Amino acid sequence: MAIEIEIELEQPSVGLSKIAVSDTHGEDSPYFAGWKAYDEDPYDESTNPSGVIQMGLAENQVSFDLLEEYLEQHSEASSWGTKGVSGFRENALFQDYHGLQTFRKAMASFMEQIRGGRAKFDPDRVVLTAGATAANELLTFILADPGDALLVPTPYYPGFDRDLRWRTGVKIVPIHCDSSNNFQITPQALEAAYKEAEAMNTKVRGVLITNPSNPLGATIQKSVLEEILDFVTRKNIHLVSDEIYSGSVFSSSEFISIAEILEARNYKSAERVHIVYSLSKDLGLPGFRVGTIYSYNDKVVTTARRMSSFTLISSQTQHLLVSMLSDKKFTENYIKTNRMRLRKRYEMIIEGLRSAGIECLEGNAGLFCWMNLSPLLEKSTREGELAVWDSMLHEVKLNISPGSSCHCSEPGWFRVCFANMSEKTLEVALARIRKFMEQRQRDI
Ligand SMILES: Cc1ncc(COP(=O)(O)O)c(C=O)c1O
Repeated sequence: MAIEIEIELEQPSVGLSKIAVSDTHGEDSPYFAGWKAYDEDPYDESTNPSGVIQMGLAENQVSFDLLEEYLEQHSEASSWGTKGVSGFRENALFQDYHGLQTFRKAMASFMEQIRGGRAKFDPDRVVLTAGATAANELLTFILADPGDALLVPTPYYPGFDRDLRWRTGVKIVPIHCDSSNNFQITPQALEAAYKEAEAMNTKVRGVLITNPSNPLGATIQKSVLEEILDFVTRKNIHLVSDEIYSGSVFSSSEFISIAEILEARNYKSAERVHIVYSLSKDLGLPGFRVGTIYSYNDKVVTTARRMSSFTLISSQTQHLLVSMLSDKKFTENYIKTNRMRLRKRYEMIIEGLRSAGIECLEGNAGLFCWMNLSPLLEKSTREGELAVWDSMLHEVKLNISPGSSCHCSEPGWFRVCFANMSEKTLEVALARIRKFMEQRQRDI
């Protein structure tokens, strides 16, 4: 005990690395502050009905019953496989960084299934990582040097500040998108971001898109994907497509993967394209830490595999998921049912918000909607936006994510998650939003 105290007292005078003391992780934004407010006073229907409802967490809990039912019917999947206890050794002993061949096959085929069979994935190009977080960082380490830049369309997932910048020393240069064209990426915006980097003497190594987008909850149009691919080809840079929400599109025909565009172009220029995927959203398994990099570039595949040693997936998790993902009857039903349920939730929240006088961007994917509260802002600034966020958190105990934490250049937009709670809790949340809006109307 005495030693512990001594160590604590000595800590402040011991220096730490530049990375450790840098604040480029971005975790001091309101996006994370809202999570803390929820943790300190979490809503519970019976034990804490006046607590904070967490609408700032993109988690999918709407199809857990299907996963649980599968596990009940296939107890071998969650124990040591069909070999019983003797399978224990297979899980416990050394696993090299290729991961299980059977699991890479199952992942490749699941990724094809989500895309309605319109794209093919080769299991030998699947690199396994501990979630998309690790996949995005690992790719950044491979594609860029410290001080170089990736162009990222705004608004973007706040975690990218940590994943792409913090430990790699790579910069993010925003591609500014706005509501005038529903936040779609334009060739002009791409070119402007590239020029901005050039003006800072920063070498651009690639563009990173999220399709479907977090926080917009919408897919990127085919023509826009074509333009982005033409742009990166012209500039001779990389394209990373984070497709973590690809199975959470309410209408499967509305999602086009970059893999489909490449296939249509006979894989011309494919060596600059890399896809990131994970089971955190579509299967609702963020705790399992299962992600992948799918690269069309041989050198990137080899290097990423080597680097994945730092962030492997446990053998036991891989074994469990081989069973589940190879069961086509299960996956087909899961994908279809999950989509239907997400759409129902989406319609429920959009309708509820509309009746409270709030409009959202038209969405077709993801676990959230992109809500426009700009008419409520006293000043059209980041401060004005944060004042509304703060009132929402303290007056009606709802945590939503302010657009500024996603680097949105237009104040007043917020991301609202709807799949991490029961329908009943969502109803309570909508009633609180209505109350919030009525209060505002009275104050005018
Ligand atoms: C666009 C995007 N990429 C990556 C991640 C990280 O996912 P994972 O849990 O697989 O690390 C998230 C999580 O919210 C995300 O929204």
